[in-house]
Amino acid sequence: MVAAVTVRVPAKINLHLGVAALRPDGFHALDTVYQAISLYDDLTARPGRGVSLRGASYVDPASVPLDDTNIAVRALDVLGPRCGRRLEAEILIEKAIPVAGGMAGGSADAAAALLAADRLLDLGCSDATLLAAAAACGSDVPFALIGGTARGRGRGEQVTPVEDRGTWWWVVVPATGGLSTPAVYRRYDELVPDAPAVPAEPVELLTALASGDPHRLARALHNDLQPPALDLRPELGDLIERGEAEGALRGLVSGSGPTCLFLCESAEAARATAAGLQGGPRGEERVVLLAHGPVAGAHVVAR
Ligand code: C5P
Repeated sequence: MVAAVTVRVPAKINLHLGVAALRPDGFHALDTVYQAISLYDDLTARPGRGVSLRGASYVDPASVPLDDTNIAVRALDVLGPRCGRRLEAEILIEKAIPVAGGMAGGSADAAAALLAADRLLDLGCSDATLLAAAAACGSDVPFALIGGTARGRGRGEQVTPVEDRGTWWWVVVPATGGLSTPAVYRRYDELVPDAPAVPAEPVELLTALASGDPHRLARALHNDLQPPALDLRPELGDLIERGEAEGALRGLVSGSGPTCLFLCESAEAARATAAGLQGGPRGEERVVLLAHGPVAGAHVVAR
């Protein structure tokens, strides 16, 4: 057995998030296009038991449970029966993906734990086994394994890669305090009582990705969870306007929020928008990050 395995796993954003009416199982049917961007958590697994966390400045460590309810620990409980044994590891999460930010940070850690356990404990799981365990952990977890740019259907767990000819530059602004994903979906149900039976398809978005043209992509970005997220956090609307005034081609809420994203024309343009967004209107400091996508899904970086 190896002494330690470190897996790097990216944040996701949704370039298109079409949401349909609430299903009887408590989930919403989605038609989404995910992109993995260069903002990562690193998860290290060693022989032993337990979970600890080191976070970036904007990560509140108190917001992540450090017991058996941690999603990375639960991922091992999901994978264990599929391998016919009980799985344990001592897990360290080095977190840069905002918590409860609409970037699937918890899902990323679950995906990383599945891959790290497979390598640390020499489980020899097939990709199909890891993807099935990922889907059982949460709707966004399979995408964290595959990364790149992919369409997600069902409740988001059925993922297929799509053609993407671009390298897209994003300014990412985490918010202080997260938003609960179920709460944003509940607000969606209240605001859209006549939600469609079938989610909106990403027709223009897929064409824009294949073209590699950021202006075209900017026009095609779409998020059905943005109105409920803005309803719960009206100040995000001002932030989006501000980023667009600072040169971004388009600003939007990331998934269920409250992180906001700004698509920029180039790396240089993204640096300029980020500089413009730094320092709030009354001089308050704002965390502003730069990322590009697509990037690879969960992968081993050290063992
Ligand atoms: O799948 P995951 O555990 O990430 O979902 C968290 C919650 O988000 C669900 O319990 C549900 O309330 C909501 N959700 C939803 N429809 C989806 C995905 C998530 O309503 N497709």
